Amino acid sequence: METYTVLLPAAGSGRRMGAGFNKLFLEMAGKPILIHTLDVFEQDPDCSGMILSVKDEEKPKIEEMLERFGITKVAALVEGGAERQQSVAACIDAHRSGGIVLVHDAARPFIKRDVIRKLVEVAREDGAAIAGVQVKDTMKVAPDGIVEETVDRSKLWAIQTPQAFRYELLKEASDKAEAEGFLGTDESMIVERLGHPVKVVESTYDNVKMTTKEDLLFGEVLLKQRRQ
Ligand code: CTP
Ligand code: MG
Repeated sequence: METYTVLLPAAGSGRRMGAGFNKLFLEMAGKPILIHTLDVFEQDPDCSGMILSVKDEEKPKIEEMLERFGITKVAALVEGGAERQQSVAACIDAHRSGGIVLVHDAARPFIKRDVIRKLVEVAREDGAAIAGVQVKDTMKVAPDGIVEETVDRSKLWAIQTPQAFRYELLKEASDKAEAEGFLGTDESMIVERLGHPVKVVESTYDNVKMTTKEDLLFGEVLLKQRRQ
């Protein structure tokens, strides 16, 4: 198994969570969401290092947290940007050693190790692999709330992170996006623009991003289940 480096954007503000501060500091079972996520990679022997992008003013608090919860693999804390893509770009630019890199939202603490393993394997073979689940609901295109068409659901995937890439491919995609002022909602989009194929690896429905209050409730249930 090849090792990988994980890039974790953590410089958001958590507006939709409505806590009034970065949602990654909210605690579940006595530990900040950020630490729950980092722990997955701390415990994974295949993960050789983490690069986090953070807000400058939150850096001391995060450094203190890493120390307190025994997170040792953070190789760099870089300054995030106004958009998620810029925060990821800062991590990409700070990485120097090639190989396979994973981009993973710091707000997704429930990623499973076997999904990570599969992503790394596919990215090593094919360059780009992203985690996703098949959509469960019926999907319709409805601009302005009027149904235009119903989309064939069997072809649709709801895409998550991690997204895994050969480093050189991701770096090229990121530099091109920045030069052209293209802003995507995930890293796959910037790689797709290069014409490079991206493979979807089936993930799990519980790999939720802690986005709104309801996600916290779900998170508590998942943690409780794990402890049983
Ligand atoms: N993120 C980041 N830099 C930004 C925006 C987001 O590093 N400028 C990070 C978040 O910290 C999070 C991940 O990207 O770990 C996914 O973003 P999201 O869930 O949207 O988090 P927030 O942007 O913090 O939340 P919101 O959109 O509700 O404000
Ligand atoms: Mg956001």
